[in-house]
Amino acid sequence: MFFTLATAIAILGATSQAAPTSSPIFPPRSSAADFRLVANVTANDLTPSINDYVLTSYHTGAGQAFAVLVPNTSATSGRTFYTNGTAEDIRYRRSNILTDGGSPPFPFGVVINGDESVSINAGTGTAGVNLALFPDPISKLSAVGKAGFYACEKTLPAGPAVQIFTKAFEETTPVGCADVSLLAQCAESTGVEHPFAAVSGCYADVAGIDWSIYSA
Ligand SMILES: *[C@@H]1O[C@H](CO)[C@@H](O)[C@H](O)[C@H]1NC(C)=O
Ligand SMILES: *[C@@H]1O[C@H](CO)[C@@H](O)[C@H](O)[C@H]1NC(C)=O
Ligand SMILES: *[C@@H]1O[C@H](CO)[C@@H](O)[C@H](O)[C@H]1NC(C)=O
Repeated sequence: MFFTLATAIAILGATSQAAPTSSPIFPPRSSAADFRLVANVTANDLTPSINDYVLTSYHTGAGQAFAVLVPNTSATSGRTFYTNGTAEDIRYRRSNILTDGGSPPFPFGVVINGDESVSINAGTGTAGVNLALFPDPISKLSAVGKAGFYACEKTLPAGPAVQIFTKAFEETTPVGCADVSLLAQCAESTGVEHPFAAVSGCYADVAGIDWSIYSA
């Protein structure tokens, strides 16, 4: 291999031209089949702050629960979810998001209700609820036909809870509610077999991301 000075300068020039001075950078991702969903507040945080709260279920009846956010008090706070579907289901955005419940464990799905509340009910989840897909550079919960999610303090049958709702396009977040991204944090396998689990992009530590250095 032989480089002339001119070649070296040309290579250096090309390299510096390609330097990502203005291209967006996003937090690095890992991947796993299982993940927790962590709230990243993007506007109108509640008091106390719900930033870094984790998604779990609030039991309302046999096999029925609302999706709520709770403080992350231990490494096992928040439900462990997975993306369920074949490669084709995922490509056509008809996969769903599941979690295990009951004993022995059986699938519960993330369900979007007509009133925009979100449930975690025994059985399948709403098709099209997924982790944002390529080319989205962020691994967050998304739902086909919805703009995102918000969280509000509500009084549920057993007491107050921070409940999750889907937001329609063009909808204004209700006063007193916080806009949230639900970011996927990689989790250990629960040990339950999931024949149609897909590998998802996820973050090692959502709470540890320093957003000031990223573009989203
Ligand atoms: C919850 O907190 C623990 C520390 O107690 C931390 O290791 C873990 O990453 C947090 N989990 C989530 C999903 O934020
Ligand atoms: C998981 O996905 C597979 C493949 O599409 C489907 O047959 C199965 O019913 C799904 N399971 C649930 C609980 O939705
Ligand atoms: C997470 O929250 C921070 C602070 O509000 C914000 O700058 C960042 O854009 C958010 N990221 C996502 C993906 O929501």
